[in-house]
Amino acid sequence: MKYFRMPLVGLLSATLLVTGVQTAVADEAAPQAPLRTLAERADLRIGTAVDMAALADDTTYRRTTGREFNSVTAENVMKWEVVEPARGTYDWSGADALVRFARERGQVVRGHTLVWHSQLPGWLTSGVADGSIDAAELRGILRRHITTEVKRYKGRIQQWDVVNEVFEEDGSLRNSIWLQQLGPSYIADAFRWAHAADPKAKLFLNDYNVEGINAKSTAYYELAKRLRAEGVPVQGFGIQGHLAIQYGFPGDVPENLARFARLGMQTAFTEVDVRMILPADEEKLATQATYFRGLLDACLGTRSCKSFTVWGFTDKYSWVPGVFEGQGAATLTGEDFGRKPAYGAVREGLAEGR
Ligand code: G3I
Repeated sequence: MKYFRMPLVGLLSATLLVTGVQTAVADEAAPQAPLRTLAERADLRIGTAVDMAALADDTTYRRTTGREFNSVTAENVMKWEVVEPARGTYDWSGADALVRFARERGQVVRGHTLVWHSQLPGWLTSGVADGSIDAAELRGILRRHITTEVKRYKGRIQQWDVVNEVFEEDGSLRNSIWLQQLGPSYIADAFRWAHAADPKAKLFLNDYNVEGINAKSTAYYELAKRLRAEGVPVQGFGIQGHLAIQYGFPGDVPENLARFARLGMQTAFTEVDVRMILPADEEKLATQATYFRGLLDACLGTRSCKSFTVWGFTDKYSWVPGVFEGQGAATLTGEDFGRKPAYGAVREGLAEGR
């Protein structure tokens, strides 16, 4: 579906996208400032997850990634299954390419993600399953993975998602191989090892369905409070922000961010997208825009939230249709990079600032 940017109040410029070639008809004022310029005025990193194949092959994607954002996150190329496909055999090519791309464009990098139950290399999951890797060896493998990857990018990663999705919806710990084999202490260990490898990186917990105050986000709050009291360097709470307009907008988002701030922690929106049941229409897109804006305003509403990342900025490469059948249109721009009302809402929110 081709989208045209909604006319923005105060701006006469209009951008008409034809066959992916962006022709901006600027008004008498300067051409429209990119999102990153507005974000910098608001002391915010506006980021996007990056699909490295698209970055290599799609010039519009590459140009937009560099122009609009001042933070990037590896959608997949920093995950364990990618960086260590065979035990002791590393492939840093994708991660290196993203870090280089970011450095060349003055962007910071969010590292995603060191410890997760998904996208683990096959040699590790099969070794645990067949018992050839016991708990003691697994702990050593985890320590080596974290130390190796964090040290490689020492000084070049602003924030690491150290552990990802460790709680269930009811606030109980997810029964992953990490919990089964190592017990709950794997979380504190992961943060300590990451901090030892790069003391300057800000170390985050990260999960979905934790935008408001609920059993899951409260489990993170209590975990962070306890670990910080024990001196564990848990410095940030990452709120993924995968929303859907067919569900209500989460309540208590500002209050949720505020309680982590009271612990002395940063917060970040790390993977924001807002899916819908297709086909998209004007009303659904307008609702989507309010959801993006609602999360952005919550972030701008507290100095402790310094980073707002969308999980891809174009529907062309979104993960959503492949996972949620019949749903999609979850990002700020369409398949043709046409700006949707959500893009305009994010722009206006950034322009209003804190
Ligand atoms: O790279 C292989 C390719 O070689 C193979 O031919 C192809 C077909 O099997 O698969 C490719 O790997 C895919 C990978 O993305 C890279 O494109 C995996 O199958 C696919 O499962 C994987 O999906 C990623 C998903 O995490 C995995 O759970 C999505 O791109 C990514 O957007 C998504 O991101 C997660 C965050 O990391 C954590 N929070 C939730 C978010 C959405 O699930």
